[in-house]
Amino acid sequence: MNARVIILFGAPGGGKGTQATRLSAELKLPHVSTGDLFRENLAQGTALGLRAKSFMESGKLVPDDVVLDMLFDRVARPDCKQGYLLDGFPRTLPQAAALDARLAAAKASVQVIHLKVPESVLVERLVGRRTCKQCGNIHHVKFSAPKAAGRCDKCNGELEQRRDDSPDVVTKRLATYRAETQPLEGHYKQAGILHEVDGNRPADEVFKALKQIATGVEVR
Ligand code: AP5
Ligand code: MG
Repeated sequence: MNARVIILFGAPGGGKGTQATRLSAELKLPHVSTGDLFRENLAQGTALGLRAKSFMESGKLVPDDVVLDMLFDRVARPDCKQGYLLDGFPRTLPQAAALDARLAAAKASVQVIHLKVPESVLVERLVGRRTCKQCGNIHHVKFSAPKAAGRCDKCNGELEQRRDDSPDVVTKRLATYRAETQPLEGHYKQAGILHEVDGNRPADEVFKALKQIATGVEVR
């Protein structure tokens, strides 16, 4: 069977990571997040992580060649043979073109799902996000508050704020998104594979809509 690839597309704070975690478990496809891969490299002190650090902390994109090498290396692993779920990639037209070529050569089936959320909501989501140091689980101080303050519901690990979730870096990330990533909407619309989902509603409702698109089955 041909591989199946789902691209979760959308602005910073749109809910890509939150939904990808659930969808990945539901569809049994690995969750591949370029942001998470960079953060793992940074935590391990690799050359790749150190290269990405200054771009990430200033709200800019990591250069395409660096991202593409890392991503293609990751999806070439055996667990991605049946397909995978992309979160935060592609983010520029050259990244999309490189992915298109690879997926066309593999005759993969591709769906792009855009999580649409107004910018005013994104800022509040990002500055209030808290992520587990141990397992990466995503909380929010208000919208997904942990049961015990500062502790992850899943593993009781310590919650931390991402360095790029400060208000000034968030403003820069949103500007970068508008300038470099938003044009991909037109690219995928033209290809006829873009699905739009209202991401500005409770996470469970968003998940139902995603599941419906991914499985083609209406979920109640
Ligand atoms: P990355 O880690 O991908 O960050 P991002 O795209 O900015 O997206 P976020 O992770 O901030 O948001 P999300 O959509 O995952 O939202 P989440 O589910 O956490 O990239 C970081 C950096 O790495 C980039 O800036 C760049 O430098 C570099 N990079 C990565 N990929 C790259 C690439 N391809 N090319 C070049 N550079 C790249 O949700 C956010 C918050 O909202 C959470 O607190 C959550 O609890 C809450 N929330 C989620 N859903 C809901 C809901 N329905 N209602 C209420 N609250 C909600
Ligand atoms: Mg994320």
